[in-house]
Amino acid sequence: MISRNTIDEIKSRIDIVDVISDFINVKRSGQNYKALSPFTNEKTASFYVVPNKGIFKDFSSGKGGDAITFVMEHEGMSYTEALRYLAKKYGVEIKEELTPEKDQAAQSERDSLYIVMNYAKDYYKDLLHKSDEGQSIGLTYFRERGFTDRDIEKFELGYALNEWNGFEKTALKAGYSPEILEKAGLIVKRENGNTYDRFRGRVIFPVHNLSGKVIAFGARMLGKEKDQPKYINSPETDIYHKSNVLYGMFQAKNEIRKHEFCYLVEGYTDVISLHQSGIQNVVASSGTALTEEQIKLMRRFTENVTVLFDGDAAGIKAALRGIDLVLKGGLNVRIVLLPDGEDPDSFSKKRGSSELVQFLKEHTRDFISFKIDLYTADASRDPIKKAELIRDILTSITAIPDPLKRTVYLQECSKKLEVPLSVLSIEVKKILLAGKTNEAKSDRNAPPQQDGLTSSLSEIHSLSKSFLTSEESLALFEREFIKVLINLGHYRTAEGEHAYEYLFRESQDVEFLNPVHQEIVDQYKIEVTEGHSVKPSDFMRALSPDTAAYVSGFLVQKYFISEGWKKHHIIIGDEYNVEQSSEKVIMQLKLGIILKMLGDNLQKVKEQKTVEEQNEMLEIQATLDGYKNDIARGLGRIVLPGLTSGQPGVKHFQNQ
Ligand code: CTP
Ligand code: MN
Repeated sequence: MISRNTIDEIKSRIDIVDVISDFINVKRSGQNYKALSPFTNEKTASFYVVPNKGIFKDFSSGKGGDAITFVMEHEGMSYTEALRYLAKKYGVEIKEELTPEKDQAAQSERDSLYIVMNYAKDYYKDLLHKSDEGQSIGLTYFRERGFTDRDIEKFELGYALNEWNGFEKTALKAGYSPEILEKAGLIVKRENGNTYDRFRGRVIFPVHNLSGKVIAFGARMLGKEKDQPKYINSPETDIYHKSNVLYGMFQAKNEIRKHEFCYLVEGYTDVISLHQSGIQNVVASSGTALTEEQIKLMRRFTENVTVLFDGDAAGIKAALRGIDLVLKGGLNVRIVLLPDGEDPDSFSKKRGSSELVQFLKEHTRDFISFKIDLYTADASRDPIKKAELIRDILTSITAIPDPLKRTVYLQECSKKLEVPLSVLSIEVKKILLAGKTNEAKSDRNAPPQQDGLTSSLSEIHSLSKSFLTSEESLALFEREFIKVLINLGHYRTAEGEHAYEYLFRESQDVEFLNPVHQEIVDQYKIEVTEGHSVKPSDFMRALSPDTAAYVSGFLVQKYFISEGWKKHHIIIGDEYNVEQSSEKVIMQLKLGIILKMLGDNLQKVKEQKTVEEQNEMLEIQATLDGYKNDIARGLGRIVLPGLTSGQPGVKHFQNQ
């Protein structure tokens, strides 16, 4: 364990702006610094650094803390790893300290595993480059596959000699104990006590953790011997849990952030061939369906995943089923279908890198739209098949945790399949109901995610457990707006203005659908104009009894507790902050309005008689669609269909 003194020393040297600037581009803003959040896809800066407090706060992801937390979050490091990183950066010598014996034993065992895995990695690397066998067999194999020296180095590929005890002997000579070699899974013990090297006569793919340490190996055979598995992999150890790891994440993580999405492929070689084509935001699930842990891991870097499928029909349908779990994990899924029987590796080998890149660009599709198209192609004429397909697609849609996204997809589904929204809604309720009964039988699900005052989406979710019409979602977003206005309106933002000023400025032209909401807003404006206090308790008194009763349902208990806290501080309690909440409700409100306009306009399109009139409406539709996507992107978490496939609405109606 790093000693207390060392930690203090590191902390005293840290300059948070300096630390953060190594990773993202921060700009001065008054006494503080601002940047685009590295944790979300936001377009306007809501990541703040407050140097004199040594803290950062990211209003778009909600993350916050000191420089150490930042390094942990951004680089996916543990506390100790972050400290070591910062010690190195500031030239602080690390003094270790004794820890309680049990922890120390566990820690030192993990440390020994890391050390021996690192040793093994160097050993296999050396053999690949320096031994005759490694060069003539291993290196030749990689070269034949088109792996460049740069990528061989980047992935630290190696070669294991075709010997029973080559590694074991060398490692023992170097001082490693037989026990640790076995624990690390590098040697295998027979029942009679004899041991042999696990990896023999194979090329070696090291698996790295997020900070670049080797935690496992995959070893591929070279020939085509029938009786041998294609890959031999490290067993589970104290430092390697297969279901928590995505191959290539260490090499990909910064690129994933940069591109705001991640390609998901099947195997080691697919990852490396994409790197060869210059695509570095790619990870592999290593031949199995994604686990929940892997989905969580991915979500630390992006919410957008593009899955690459081989193009044979049976494979596609099987693979599609696995995707529901990914949707359930809250990821936005897009998909690329490779030509029949090709994987990224074979494709790039046959047609070259630039064609692969081009292909991926042109063939990336939104997952739900893809699924709809896939099925409509073979089911449109058969009513029974059509019913089945609708059910299947709706099952995928219901897996999406965000009701807003679900609603948008449902609208798309209704358009494409030419089934009224109301019919689809009934189907969805059935599916949800069936799901609920299953849920009751199995474990209880985790509680819905709460994100403070503006927990509207999960609230809406539990409220309706279904899909909302655009009018219903607008009404709910209005309510969220009112809730934030009343609870937080009188606070000041980091810019120094009252939150209500911001809220009113941004909602200037909005007419509230619900007259009570409009009344509240009007009354609020009157109160501030007359110089009255608009603290919730005071503001309540200015309302009619009915409205006050309605409003009292919005008052947040926590808010009153924090009333005495630093008033002008950005952060109220842990969860609520004026800026994040205000910005969020504004964007939601705008999104709600756009969705409603889209709905109304769509109705008009249908009512137009002439093609010219229709086209005019369609143009409006396309413009609104663009706005919708902009806002949704601003909201950071929502990718709506139509981003990649142009303007689905327009296409659809021109076909009619
Ligand atoms: N895999 C495994 N054990 C096997 C076969 C496959 O662990 N016996 C995992 C590996 O992670 C592999 C992935 O599944 O990378 C995909 O399998 P496959 O496509 O057969 O292997 P590739 O790595 O793509 O190898 P190649 O391109 O040489 O066919
Ligand atoms: Mn493969």
